[in-house]
Order: sequence, then C-alpha cells, then structure tokens
Amino acid sequence: MSDPGPNPETELGGTAGVARIEPAGIAARLESWFPEHRRDLPWRRIRSPWRTLVSELMLQQTQVSRVEERFEAFMARFPDPVAMATAGEDAVVAAWEGLGYYRRARLLHAAAVAIRDEHGGEVPDTVPALLKLPGVGRYTAGSIASIAFDLPAPIVDGNVIRVIARLDAIDAASDDSALIEHCWARAEELAVVAGSPGVLNESLMELGATVCRPGKPSCDACPLVDRCGARRAGIEDSVPRPKQPPRRELVHLHSVLLRRGDRILLRRRPSKGIWAGLWELPSVESASRLEPGAVAAGLDFRVDGLRHVESFRRLLTHREVHFHVHEGRTRVRQGTWCDRDEASALGMSRPMRLLVDRRAWGVTD
Ligand code: ADE
Repeated sequence: MSDPGPNPETELGGTAGVARIEPAGIAARLESWFPEHRRDLPWRRIRSPWRTLVSELMLQQTQVSRVEERFEAFMARFPDPVAMATAGEDAVVAAWEGLGYYRRARLLHAAAVAIRDEHGGEVPDTVPALLKLPGVGRYTAGSIASIAFDLPAPIVDGNVIRVIARLDAIDAASDDSALIEHCWARAEELAVVAGSPGVLNESLMELGATVCRPGKPSCDACPLVDRCGARRAGIEDSVPRPKQPPRRELVHLHSVLLRRGDRILLRRRPSKGIWAGLWELPSVESASRLEPGAVAAGLDFRVDGLRHVESFRRLLTHREVHFHVHEGRTRVRQGTWCDRDEASALGMSRPMRLLVDRRAWGVTD
C-alpha cells in the first residue's frame, strides 16, 4: 500500500474541524510498524479464533500483565469451546480467579455453550454472529472478527480513543460521547482500507499501550508523529482529558473465620451484586463499621467469642471495601466446611483468597 506522506492540508480543532488525514497512509504506517514493535504476548504466539476470543474477553477490564501470567494455564484447562462448555460455569469461575470482574467468566462460559450448541463448536466468523454471543459487545466482536478472521471490523477501546483523539487533536474527555463516536467512524475508515485489518487493529491497540500512552507519550518512537494533530498543536500530553474518577460506594465487609479441625466454614455470595456467586468466609456487609456483637447478630447462625483480628481496605472500580476480619467459634455443623484442597477449588475474590490463605492456612506470600 502506498504511503503518501504528510498531508499539508490537515486542519486542527475540536470535533468540528477534525483533521481528515488520508486513512490509507495511516493504515499503511501502522501495519508496517506492528510486526517490528509488537510485544511478545502469549495469545500472539499461537493464534486460533478460540484463543483470540478468550484473550479479548480477559483483556476487556484486566491489565495485560495479569492476563499474560494466567493465559496459558487457562487455555490448557479449557483448550476449546466444547471443553469449557462441558466443564461447567463453576470450573470457569474458579479458573478465572485473580482476573476480576467475575461476571465475565460466567459470560465466557455461556459463550462457549452457545458456540457448542449453535455453531458446531467453532467460533463464528461474522460480526453479527459474534455480537449474539454472551459477553461479546461491539469492541470484542470487532477484535475477534479482525484478529482471528481478518475482517474489516473496527475496534475502539481506551487505547484506540487516545491514539485517535491525539491524531485528530480532539480536546475532549476520553469518555466524551462525540469523541467516542468519532473514534468508531475513524477506526472503521482505517479498518476498511487496511491490507490486514487484524494487523491494523492490533497495531492501534499496541501503539496506545506502548507509545501513545496516557500522560507523556513517547512521540519519538511513533510511526505517526509527523501526522499527529495534537503533537503539532503541542497538546499531546493533555489530550484526551481524563474522565471523572468513579464515585466509590463505601462498604464494610465483616468476615468471620470459623474452624472445625482442619476445616473452615465457607459460603457462597448472592447471585447479584459485588463478587456475585463467589465463595467467602461468612460475612456481614454494612455501610459503617460494626462491633463484634453486631457482626455476630448479623449472621444467620450462632457464633461465640467473636473477636476482631485485622482490618484492611481494597479499592475496586466502583467500591471502597473495608474488610474487618474476625475469628470465633460455632457449634453449627451444617454448611460448607472445607479443608484446604476443597477451598482452593472454589472461586473467591482475590482479597478473600489471600485472606483465607493467610488466616486459615498460614500462607504468607
Ligand atoms: N488489549 C485488548 N486486546 C489486546 C490484544 N490483543 N493485545 C494486547 N492488548 C490488548
């Protein structure tokens, strides 16, 4: 594909006077930049539509480094959609541990079931069919269609928004709906003219993740530096503007460790709300901190000798959770009393797993 060089007629400005640089030149530069500069990531070493689908769902809200650590073990456990559909939702949730946003694990399992039952076990190869899969929205459908099947489908995520906002010098917040709409149109324009839409899309993501980073971008390493509107206007460090941080709800979670021999009592969280359906120490949730007597009264079975042993805080995207850990005794025999192996097979939130490992089994790292 020919590269016509910088366009002298580029205009700068807000969404109204957006730079309209010839898309074929940008696509060509991005496509030749990617093979030489891409990071060596597990889902890029061996490619298959299923690996692409799983990695894109994992990467939706989780850092690349965390997905990188877990990906191959997860794929070994669920090598194809039929294996995952057959293993069941609980097995997928348990294997998802540490990746956060556990609803995605349930959706991934539901997608595997749909692929087995409605697509003969093969990941579908059209955007409309992909969009019908649970957990697959516009971004994920576009990334699977382009990366796995090289279809000219656009993708827009936080990285792509940053790259395009800078390229076109759009001084808006990164969650501004007009900016996002512009990015979808621009990403489509680029995907349609690309020699390989999959390479183009991964290049856009990669540029955003490694060069055109939030804060101070590394413009010297950018293949589009001479075409970047924000750079020309000297606003590359501040565009796009950050979105308002989310307001976090304050939650106090009072968890109770109860032992019987080498077993501890665990229970499943409700199917709605924070950490839905995951396992935990029996807990009482409230908007403010409770004394041990009130924690005991908040449980639906009797505990004695309850005492507070530690507190810590975790910030989630929409919540600030204060954990207050208690130990006590109970005569209750019903419920799920687990030894260490049994507990390790149940899906838990990351903070709950670390807490159980530390307090119940004395694991310190
Ligand atoms: N983020 C989302 N999808 C990605 C991919 N395929 N490679 C790297 N980062 C990503």
